[in-house]
Order: sequence, then structure tokens, then C-alpha cells
Amino acid sequence: MVSFTLNGAPFTVEIPIETPLVDVIRDHAKMTGTKQACGAGVCGACTVQVDGHAVVSCLMPVGHVNGKAVVTVEGLGEAKLGQNILHPVQKAFMAEDALQCGFCTPGFVVAASAFHDAWRAKHGTAKPSESDIASALAGHLCRCGAYPGIYRAVAAACEGRHDGDAHASPRYEAHDKVTGAAKYTVDKVLDGQLYGLVLRSPHGHADVTALDVAPALAIAGVKAAVSMLGTDKTVRYVGQAVAAVAAVDRATAEKGLAAIRVSYARKFVLSSAAAARMTDSPKLYAGLFKPAPNSAEGPALPMPWSGNRRGPASAFSLARGRAKSELAAAAARNDPLLVTGTYRNAGQSHTCLEPHAAIIDHQGSKIVAHVSSQAIQFATGQIAKTSGVKDVTGHAEHVGGGFGSKVGLGIESHIALALSKAAGKPVRIAYDRAEELSVAGHRPETEIEIKLLASKDGRLDALSVRTHSNAGVAINSTVSGLARLVYTAGSKELIDWDVVTNTPPGSPFRAPGGPPLCFALEQAIDEAAVKLAIDPIALRQRWDQDPNRQRLYTWAKGLDAWRERGDAGRETGRFRRGIGVAAGNWLYFVQGNTEVEIGVRKGKLFVACGTQDIGQGSRTVLAETMATAFAVPASSVEVDIGRSNLPTGPMAAGSRSTASLVPAVMAAVEMLKGRLRPGARGAVGDNVPWSDLIAASGDLRLKAGRPTDSTTINPNAPHPLKAVGFIGTAFDWMLRNFAHIDTGRGVAGAVQIADVEVDTWLGKTRVRRFYSGLTVGKPHVRRLAENQAEGSIIQGIGYALYEERAYDPANANVLSAGFDDYRIPGIGDTPEMHVHFDEKGFEHVPGGAVGIGEIATLPVAAAIANAVYNATGFRPYEAPIRPDRLLAGLDMMRRA
Ligand code: FES
Ligand code: FES
Repeated sequence: MVSFTLNGAPFTVEIPIETPLVDVIRDHAKMTGTKQACGAGVCGACTVQVDGHAVVSCLMPVGHVNGKAVVTVEGLGEAKLGQNILHPVQKAFMAEDALQCGFCTPGFVVAASAFHDAWRAKHGTAKPSESDIASALAGHLCRCGAYPGIYRAVAAACEGRHDGDAHASPRYEAHDKVTGAAKYTVDKVLDGQLYGLVLRSPHGHADVTALDVAPALAIAGVKAAVSMLGTDKTVRYVGQAVAAVAAVDRATAEKGLAAIRVSYARKFVLSSAAAARMTDSPKLYAGLFKPAPNSAEGPALPMPWSGNRRGPASAFSLARGRAKSELAAAAARNDPLLVTGTYRNAGQSHTCLEPHAAIIDHQGSKIVAHVSSQAIQFATGQIAKTSGVKDVTGHAEHVGGGFGSKVGLGIESHIALALSKAAGKPVRIAYDRAEELSVAGHRPETEIEIKLLASKDGRLDALSVRTHSNAGVAINSTVSGLARLVYTAGSKELIDWDVVTNTPPGSPFRAPGGPPLCFALEQAIDEAAVKLAIDPIALRQRWDQDPNRQRLYTWAKGLDAWRERGDAGRETGRFRRGIGVAAGNWLYFVQGNTEVEIGVRKGKLFVACGTQDIGQGSRTVLAETMATAFAVPASSVEVDIGRSNLPTGPMAAGSRSTASLVPAVMAAVEMLKGRLRPGARGAVGDNVPWSDLIAASGDLRLKAGRPTDSTTINPNAPHPLKAVGFIGTAFDWMLRNFAHIDTGRGVAGAVQIADVEVDTWLGKTRVRRFYSGLTVGKPHVRRLAENQAEGSIIQGIGYALYEERAYDPANANVLSAGFDDYRIPGIGDTPEMHVHFDEKGFEHVPGGAVGIGEIATLPVAAAIANAVYNATGFRPYEAPIRPDRLLAGLDMMRRA
């Protein structure tokens, strides 16, 4: 028996003393504010206070807290006059918007509160430095990258600026996230819920010759055991699901897994793209019809295969033959203006802090599904299709990050569905961190060959981009094709190939294909600037016709950081500073079938939509749009999202949420105004405030959708695909029907400047300052927009410097399957950041703003790479720019 106080109340539990404290808190005390994201003491999500000290509860045996005081996020602050008064740190997190998806937030808040209390006791209201805060929170990870807000929040709380009443929060649901009240899929427990576990292949490639789940079913407490093999009974990567069990608890499920009998006939393993591309390599997929999964959001069109290579996909080329011949001729004559290079990017894991998870309750003629999903209505539709059950309701009230990996119906949902159907009870499948980092999705690795030829008078004559993408067993990467949308050239050869290997399938990741293309193309543009002896921004301004980015180039040139930039490789000491630039563009997407229901319920405004908030702020955008229209506080608007049985809402993917939701709400608002005050559509019009009309109104509800689809909005604005001569209409049709999005008119743009310091002894690169200029219209809620832009920079820093999926060459097992081996940026990696919104260029968009998350991350790694070159004279052709690579490059330069 273990006894301790939990949030001030006595708590006793009969349990083995070695049980992790986090399990006791979540499973026995039923307090789910404390999250578990790694189970290894690395991420900090499970942090609680024990006798006032922050500790990770996943590593703390419950026996160690016997007789002590444990405080979780639910117990912070104090109760006064029957009210729960938040801790100053909680109030500061809300006011500074120091969070996005909120899954890491309880851990940060609990640790920061302990730091705050100790700091105040010792230093009063002195402001801690960023380094003090970074040291205190070094053991915490935020995959959304909300670190700048966290710094500000902790400093402000320590200064005593949140000792009084809570300040307004820019984020609608912030209170629930800083108090642990927000419930994510992994926090839900349905009546009779079973624990599901997955038996995964230990082999990179094998035929399953025998599989018997009956021994598992013979174990008391195991309620279901199912095969998850496909019809070909072949496993093609380590970790592929073979079978699954559902049992009354984890220990019994583990016994069930161990009892399953399975035999494998091992086959060859292609552990790398290089191995798969060798001409004598065996084929991973034999026969005409290949069962390769699709790694993209769009459809996989028929393509030729050659061995393990699929392609070429070259539809985005422009005068391809001319590009080839001009570039070949330039190479033959050793043209000094010809730029060539081969760039490589490692795979990048999404590793959302809330893992992929599903709880599915198959009740025969009815299914209830809780899914950590970026597209709950789509997921619900897929469950209905797979199961043949029409009555399916999906829930995704809070989602702990997605970044593209939770768009489709994941295998975890298929497994939970199969187990629930077999058991007749709800079944939960939630990945552990190793599963999350190995089989839950990643940005494919790429090898990009670039050739770029400038004419003597400084025009871009010809461009060739040839990409081989390795999305593991999956196909359909597009990287080169994106180069059609930027930099006007006389001719372009743009070719994509997929290379299939025995590694887990890739999936869309923020701006799919964009960051690797930028990493290569933007470095090649900088090389061209060196050859032409021209300022790199001036060259981009010459070759880039987009009016939005033209303004951003002017902004960037005016920055002190850019003006102070010296020539590449001029510095000679150990620590060398460099400044780099990169640009990018991205399509603006909307979901044309978006609808909302709005109205008045019990004297309060409400808005409902079947969308979900993965941290991008859809709740806030909905509430603020309503609040602005009716001149009431956003907090007074009830927002209902995250359920499939609400009006059709946008997926939280493709940066489409805001641009899809706002026009629908605006259309509905006009109708509601007409109902509240007949004849006064669009304006207050007389002396009675809307708030009084709302309070006096009976219940009202009405539904409206986006007034027009994107292709008919302001036909004078340039269509990004037609503007480059591509077959826009056909492509539009394809996107709308297969990827559920419309392409808006106009192109979101970014111009970014990185200021780095390279330690030439240790090979480490530190980003000191980062400037991000964005044309995405006028942000609806500026702080949330900044937060998202900052988080995108953080993810880009990870892509540039740290993140790398590594595979065992023997069996292609993912070696980087823990946060110890897969390094994502921590709070100490946060540079000083400046986000500049140029608000022009999207006046034709209803609501005036388009998506941010993708465009804001696209050029980050390229800007850092160009800054490294500027600092050292070494061109990093490979990302991440690891210390060993950088030191090897510098060494080669010294020897040359
Ligand atoms: Fe405990 Fe990550 S879950 S540190
Ligand atoms: Fe930190 Fe999402 S807000 S992981």
C-alpha cells in the first residue's frame, strides 16, 4: 500500500511499489492532465511536483512518493472563495499563448511553476534570463514549437506580472489546456474498454508462413486476437502489423501477444534507396499491380516501374527537351555560370506528442470512434466504409499534434476496429514512442540533383531538378514538380521518382516535398548569385515574378542583419557568424464544401462545425469571427467542433482551416444578423447592440457554407497553376475530388533570413536569430498566427540541424525510435525570432487570410544552410547539417 497526498488530498493505493507514478495518477486517480508521451524521462510531458520539486512521473516508482506531497497540473494554484485561482504560470501561459496543441503544456506548466516558486522565493520579481528558463525546462519537448511564448510566459510570471487577475488569452481553449481539463483521445476511457496491443514484424521483409492467434485467445482476460496481414501475407518492414490482441489490461495483452505463434520465411531486405536503386537489386513489388501504399494526400497516378523505381513523373516540366539540351551543352563547354549539385535530406519523423491513437466501440449496427485525427469526418467515413456500418460517430475534441501524419485513417484505427468487432467491446490502441517514431509516418528522404544555368545577362535560362524520394514501402512523392511554381525560367526539366525500400511508409508532412526542394533549389540559387557576383536577394528579386514576394525581398534587404552580412567564408576564428536567405511559395488551399451552423442557444451565440483543432487555433478563429461580427467577447461564443456529426468541416491539413472556415462563418453571420434584426444585414444599423438582441432572442439556428468555390473568387487574381501554364483546371478537379481541396487564387510566400553561429571546432551550428517574412494576408488572430509561424521555424531548425531517421543496414529496423536517438529541437534551440506579416495580396480572399503552417516552414532549412555557407564557405549538401558532416566539409576545404 502506498499513501501520499495528491493535490492536497490523501490518496492511498494498493499497488506494486514499482508501478510508475504516471500510471497511478492517470489510471487510478483518473487525473489525465498528466500526459505520457515517451515513457523514458526525455519529453517532460508527465512532469508532476513531488514535495515542490518537478520530477518525471514515468520514471518515478510510486513507492518513492510514499508519505510525500504530489501535485499535478490539476492541483496547481489555490482555491479561494470557492474559486480555483490559477497559478501565475498558468495565467501567463494563457496570456502569452505559450501553447498550440496543448499536449506538452501540463508538463511545462508544472515544471515552470516549480521553477517560478523557487525563483520568486530567492529572487523576488527579478526577471530570469532565457538561459535560466532554458535550463529549468531543458527536459521538456514541444513538437509544435511553442517555445518563444513559453519563454515570455515564464519570465512574465516570475516578474509578478500575472499575480493578479488572469489576463485575456488570445486562444479560446487555453484554460482547458493549462489546467489539464482538455481531453485527448489517449485520455478517454469508455465503459468496458479493452487494452489493445500490436504484434509487429521483427523482420524487414518476410513471408508469414504460419500465424495462429488461438493460443492468445486461450488466455484468461484476452477478449480478441486478430490477424492484420494483407492478402499476400508478406511483411515489408520491421514493425509492420502482423496481429493484435485486446485484453482486460496491458499485462494480459502482453501475455496474449507473446502467445501468438507466427513463422516467417525471411527474404531480401532493401535497407536504403542506394541498395534499392542498384540494377541487380531484387524487386520489392513484383507483378503488374503493386500493393504499395500512397505516401501523399493526392491520388497515385499510374506510372511506369523500373525495378524498385517508379517514374519518371515529369508533367510539371516546361520545354523539358530544351532544358536538357541547354544544360548538357553548358556542361560540355564548362560554362562558368552552370550550377550543379546533389543534395540529400534525411527522413523526418512527425512524432506528434500525442501519439496516434484510436478507441473504437463497434456495437454491431453502430460504431463510436475516438480518433486522434486531423480529419475526423473523413476518418469516420472511412470507418463506415471499412466496416459496412452506416451509423458511425467520430470524436476528436482535442488533438495533440498531427503535422500531416493523422489525415487518413491510420492503421491504429483499423486495428482497433477489427479488435472491437471481434470482442464486442471498445478497444483502445495508442502507440508508444517507439511505434510513433518508427511506423507512424515521416517526411520521405530525398536525393535531389539540380542543374541551373544563368545567362550572361543574368536571366535564368534553364533549370533541371531530378528527385529520388524514398518513402519506404510507399510511393507518390512530389518534390521536383514544386519547382514549377517558383522562379521564371526559359525551360525546366522537373522529374520525380519514387524508390521503394523495406522501411516504414512515409506520409505527408507540413508542405510535403517543399522543404527538401527549398533546401536544394535555394542553395543552388545562392550558388548562382556567387557566380554572377550579385546579392542573393537581388537575384531572387530578378528571377521571382511573384508580386507578394517582391515586397518581402524589399523588407529582407532592409533588415540590419542582412545589411551587416559579409562575404562568405570571411571569418577565421573558432566561432563564425553567417547570414543566409531563402524564399518559398506554397499554394493556398480551401475546402470548398465547408459549412457551419451558427445561432443563438439560451441567449448565447454558438458556432458548430465538424472540423478539429490540432493546435492551429480553429476554435479561436471561429469564436473571434463570430465575436467581431457581433461585437461581443469571443469567450461568450460557444464553439462546438471535433465531432463527425456536425456540419461538414475542413480537415486540419494543407493549411486550409482558416481560409475554409471564415468565409462560411461570414456567410452565416449575414443570415443570422438578418434574423436578429430584420433588414439590418451586415451592420448594426440602429442603437440596439447585438449583444442585447442576442440575449433577447429565442433559440435560433441556421447553416451556411462557403459562398463560392475558390476558383470563382476574384477571377482577376492569378491562379497559381494557370499562371505558370500548367493545366490548372484538370489539376483543380483532381485535387477537389481526390484530396478534398480547392486551389485558391494567389500564392502564399515566404522570404526568410537566418543568422547562425558555427563552432568550427565542434561542428555545431546555432541559429541565433531568425526573420520570417510571410505573405498570407491579414491574420485573424495575430498572436496565434505568430505562434504558428514560430513553431514552423522550430520544426525547420530540427530538419536543418538535427532530425534524421536512421535504419539498421542489416534489417532496416528504425534505429532512431526514441527521443534519445531522434533529436527534435528543445527550448534551448530557440533563436530570437521575428515574424513579419506583409498583409497585402489576399484582399480577394473572403476573410483576408490564408494558411500559415506550411509556407512558414518551407524555406527554413535552406536559409540556415545558406547561412552556414556564408559563415564558413562550406556548402552543406546534406541535411541534417550534422557536426561530423560540417567538420568533414571544413577539413576538405582546408586540404584543398
Ligand atoms: Fe515521462 Fe516523457 S512521458 S518524460
Ligand atoms: Fe507542445 Fe503541441 S503545444 S506539443
